[in-house]
Parts: sequence; C-alpha cells; structure tokens
Amino acid sequence: MVNRLQELESRVRQDLGRAGDLGALEALQFKVLGRKGELTQLLRHLGELTPEERPAAGQEANRVKGVLEKAFEERRSQLSASGSGPAAGMIDWSLPGRRGFRGRRHPITQTLDEVCGIFSRLNFEIVEGPEIELDYYNFEALNIPPDHPARDMQDTFYISEGVLLRTQTSPMQVRVMESRKPPLQIVSPGKVYRRDSDVSHSPMFHQVEGLMVGEGISFGDLKGILTLFVRRMFGEDTPLRFRPSFFPFTEPSAEVDIGCVLCQGGGCRLCSRTGWLEILGSGMVDPEVYRFVHYDPEQVTGFAFGLGIERIAMLKYGIDDIRMFYENDQRFLNQF
Ligand code: DAH
Repeated sequence: MVNRLQELESRVRQDLGRAGDLGALEALQFKVLGRKGELTQLLRHLGELTPEERPAAGQEANRVKGVLEKAFEERRSQLSASGSGPAAGMIDWSLPGRRGFRGRRHPITQTLDEVCGIFSRLNFEIVEGPEIELDYYNFEALNIPPDHPARDMQDTFYISEGVLLRTQTSPMQVRVMESRKPPLQIVSPGKVYRRDSDVSHSPMFHQVEGLMVGEGISFGDLKGILTLFVRRMFGEDTPLRFRPSFFPFTEPSAEVDIGCVLCQGGGCRLCSRTGWLEILGSGMVDPEVYRFVHYDPEQVTGFAFGLGIERIAMLKYGIDDIRMFYENDQRFLNQF
C-alpha cells in the first residue's frame, strides 16, 4: 500500500509538469483527487489491511494527499500567472465570429477631395498653408483696412497682436503670388476659424480657395471655370447665376448661386423664397492686391474664388445642421 501510494505520488508529479494550461490541470486533479479519483480509490482499500499495517499506510496516505493538494495549488498559480489561462487553452467554437469594421472617409473630407479633384483635372495645383496666420496675409494684403468689420473681435480669433486663426483661405492668394511668378493656377483647401456658432455656422469650418493669374485672363474665364465646376459638382442640369457682389480683394466681384436644391426654384424656407442658394464668392483680383505681391496689374489679370465645404456638403446631401459633421455619430457617418 505504501509503495502504491508513493508510485502514485511520483507519477502525478510528472503529469503535473506536463499539464500546460488550467483546463488540463483541472482534468488531472479530478482524475487523481476527485470523488472517484485514483487516490480516493486507493484509500478505500485501507480497511482491507491488517491492524499492524494500517497506521503506517494511513499516515502515508495523509501525507501523499497533503503534498499532492499543495502541488496542484502551486501549479495552478504558476499557470494563471503565465497567462495560459482558459482563454489560451480553451476556445469556445460556438461563439459568433467578430466582423471587421470598415472605416470610411468623413463626408467633409470626401467633399473636399471631390472639389479639389474637379479643379485638379482642370490643371489647378493644390497647395496648403498655415491655419495660424498673420494679420498681414489674412487682412492687410487682401485690401481689408483696419476698420473693416471683419476684423472685429466678434468675428476673428486673435492669438496675439498681428497673429490670428485665419478667417478665410484667401491669405493663400497672397502667399502664393508672393513666392511665385505668374502664370499660376492653384486651389488651396483647409480649415478656417470664426467666432460664430449655430445650425449653419461653426467656429471651425473648411474652405477651398482658387486663384488663376496670367496674361489675358478675363471674367469670361472665371465664368467658364466656375460653370464647369458647378455642373460637375451638382449635376449637368443645375441652374446657376452670377450675381454682382463685393469683396475687398476682388473687383468686380460676383457670387454664384445655384437653383435651390430643395424647391428647385419654386421658393422655400431654405432659399428664403428666392429659389436660389449662394454657393461661392468670386471676382477679378483687385489691382490693390497685386501691389502687395509686386505683380504688374498692367501685365497680368486673374480671378479668384472661395467656397465653403460644409455649405456645399449640406446642400448636396440635404443636411440641415452643420453640427452633425462634428459629432462623429456613426449612424450619421455611415450614410456617406
Ligand atoms: N474669402 C471669402 C469669404 O470667406 C470668400 C471669397 C470671395 C474668396 C471672393 C475669394 C473671392 O477668393 O474672390 O467669405
């Protein structure tokens, strides 16, 4: 009996070393120490021993039971510390599979790319510039005098004297002309900032600026290029009109309207019953601006335009609250 107990002990010690995870350990413990386990079975035979043999065998049985229980505990803490727990050893094949999530580009990014893509195919180069801008580029060199209402603290985020978050992408006109010689043809996408917030205004939004300067560029070129753009962006049959307007850095200036996307020109709340929606500002570059970049207005002419990406995306997709773009609600984003 004593021999068989010792045999069992040494065999179980070996098996313990081979139990590689908690599941295997559990099974081994059940097989040895369980209610019908090997040790339990052996102990049943204690009663068959002679009274002389019984004390020694009983003592040995208790010892073996004690050391094995301790050995199982030690192995258990070893295995759980090394992380080969049930997750590693046991796979639940009945669990449903996990689907991969496929991301998509944000509707604003999509619209930006679409706008830039249209102009890029018309040979406009894409250039980007700083969001933290000097007063000089954002206002002064664009012929916006110090007392112009756009410079008011109500509209502009100032960082320090003469430094601000750009309120428009138009400063890129000056930066590009300042560093290059005509002819040039660029679009400049990016973020702009204004102190404004409601269903159609956000303190941060996106614009695309355009500029084409060279010899003999006329208002006809402006009309031609912007008409092409509107047709490609909103569809070939989109009605559009050029309406006289004013910007300090263009002369003459024009805003482009498209037929209301909601009422198709009949008149509704979206278009304030006019049947038209303004989508961009444009004009012939004012000779005053050429003065700042040392271009000769007798030699070159050109046109510029600027459009708001959020507004275009809202009109194109029928979105009535600009804040939807920034909430990152998957139910909204998944629709694009
Ligand atoms: N920068 C103007 C704005 O933010 C938009 C604009 C109008 C840009 C006319 C232009 C332009 O380049 O010619 O309201």
